[in-house]
Amino acid sequence: MTYAAVRAHTNIALIKYWGKRDEEFFLPMNSSLSLTLEKLYTDTFVQFDEELTEDLFILNGKKQSEKETGKITRFLDLFRAQAGVSYRARVASINHVPTAAGLASSASAFAALAGAANIASGLNVDLRTLSTYARQGSGSATRSIYGGFVEWNKGTSSEDSFAIPIDEADWDIGMVIIAVNRSEKKVSSREGMKQTVETSPYYPAWVATAEDDLSVIKDAIKERNFEKMGEMAEHSAMKMHASMLAAKPPILYFEPASITAIQAVQKLREQGISCYVTMDAGPNVKVLCRLSQAGLIKEKLKDFFKEEQLLITGPGKGIRELTEDELQK
Ligand code: ADP
Ligand code: DP6
Ligand code: CO
Repeated sequence: MTYAAVRAHTNIALIKYWGKRDEEFFLPMNSSLSLTLEKLYTDTFVQFDEELTEDLFILNGKKQSEKETGKITRFLDLFRAQAGVSYRARVASINHVPTAAGLASSASAFAALAGAANIASGLNVDLRTLSTYARQGSGSATRSIYGGFVEWNKGTSSEDSFAIPIDEADWDIGMVIIAVNRSEKKVSSREGMKQTVETSPYYPAWVATAEDDLSVIKDAIKERNFEKMGEMAEHSAMKMHASMLAAKPPILYFEPASITAIQAVQKLREQGISCYVTMDAGPNVKVLCRLSQAGLIKEKLKDFFKEEQLLITGPGKGIRELTEDELQK
């Protein structure tokens, strides 16, 4: 097989990954935990071809710059080296998620690319090993190999910093995504976390508390204690943003409508609806809720946001290969 297409879903972290201890191998400062999402995903096709003289990268039908293609080349080189393949590749990808807007496109992107390159190169490593490859494209992609709730253990080396699926999230778990702004962010996650690690006096506190936060949320998931899980997720997100605000210069992903969304969720809680916010490196707000209450929450959020800004999603599955039929669509 010299070509393959794979679908990977995005994931939103409940305990955030923020900061690298090794930038070359994408080893994180702290372990993290996420929920894979059904409605947001990337489809990526990879074909190794002896006739090509350089890698080609097409995203959403548009040929990408040398810089963007360079990231793909560097990533595919991992597979070429291991599989003993020297051919260049044609990569075509479609994001069913806004690109670089804080909705985790890099997670679904590199999980899909890793999945397709794994098959197309003939390497065929197992999913756990594949998650260590995906990590080297984008840290958050480590977790998108699997569905449901997924833990990314920070590990001690490139080999043992991988993802583990811990729960299918099939107990009435959902998210309402509030698309505050779909445009590309000015500061990428990569630059944002680097600047925080290097300059924020609050960063040591982030690292010092992250492992305890993870163990609390894992207990909450085991106990199926939704409130305990939600409170911890909201706390982790706010703490990450606090560490960024204290960076020099400060990193601010919030927009006025992000605050509107957070306050709307606080009001919903006062009305007895159990839901919690999380935010990534971007202005968009995600509301963790009971899937059965997502419709009601969406209706209430319509007081503040337009219908087309609100998306309900349940938990997503792990990566899967697409059939020829699905590809043609
Ligand atoms: P996000 O919040 O969307 O994850 P990041 O700053 O982490 O934002 O990553 C965005 C970058 O991920 C893009 O600039 C691009 O380099 C890469 N990316 C996004 N989608 C794809 C894709 N489908 N295939 C390959 N790379 C992608
Ligand atoms: C805030 O995985 O996008 O979404 O590893 O540099 O590619 P790189 O960064 P990325 O960072 C994600 C940061 C986050 C939190 C998370 O997903 O855990
Ligand atoms: Co990202």
